[in-house]
Amino acid sequence: MLVDAINHRFPGHATQTTVLGPFHVASAPEFALGDDISGGMTGAPLLVEGKVGGIDGRPIAGAVVEFWHADAEGFYDVQSETGLAKPAGRGVVRTDPDGAFWFRTVIPAAYPIPDDGPVGDMLKAQARHPYRPAHVHFMISAPGCETLVTHLFLADSEYLDSDVVFGVKDALICGLQTQNAGLTARGNRVARDMAALRYDFVLANVSK
Ligand SMILES: [Fe+2]
Repeated sequence: MLVDAINHRFPGHATQTTVLGPFHVASAPEFALGDDISGGMTGAPLLVEGKVGGIDGRPIAGAVVEFWHADAEGFYDVQSETGLAKPAGRGVVRTDPDGAFWFRTVIPAAYPIPDDGPVGDMLKAQARHPYRPAHVHFMISAPGCETLVTHLFLADSEYLDSDVVFGVKDALICGLQTQNAGLTARGNRVARDMAALRYDFVLANVSK
C-alpha cells in the first residue's frame, strides 16, 4: 500500500486506487455488455453496473474495463486444481457510447491470503488474521487517462477495518442494492432477482 500511495496520487475526485494483488491474469476473456462472466463459479447472482468518465465529467466511450473476483467460497479461478483451464470470475468489457458498462456474475466472499510461509509467521507474530474483505478488482484504461487499478469492497463484508494488506479506502466501500427481475436502475434488463453493485469510476488525465 505504500507503493500505491506513492505512485497513485490522482487529483481531485478521480477514483481512488488500491493494490493490484496476486490474482490478476493477463489476457482475460472479452465479454459483451450484459454477459454472465461467472464461468460457473458458486455464489448468489450479482449485477454490476457502472460508468467510466473523466474528471471533467465527460463519459468515456470504449474504455477497457477489466475485472476479477473470488467466488462465494473465497477462491479465485487460478486457485482451482485445473488452474486457468477454465477462466471464471474474470474478464474484460468495453464501455458503450455513454461510458456505461454492465455484466452479471456472483457475489464474492472474503478470503485469506496464503499464510503457510513467512507471511503467516509474520501475521502470527503480530496477532493478525490473514483475511481480506470481499471485493471485486477493477483495472480500467482509456486513451489519455491514467490506468485505474482499484477494488470495490462490499459494505456488508467482514474485515473492512482489518484488511490484512491494508487495501481498504472508505471511498471504495460499496453497498449491495436489491435488483428485481426486469428493467435495472441503469436501463438494462435482468431475468431474475439479484443483488446489484453500482459504481461510477472517474479516470484522471495522464499526468504531463
Ligand atoms: Fe482479491
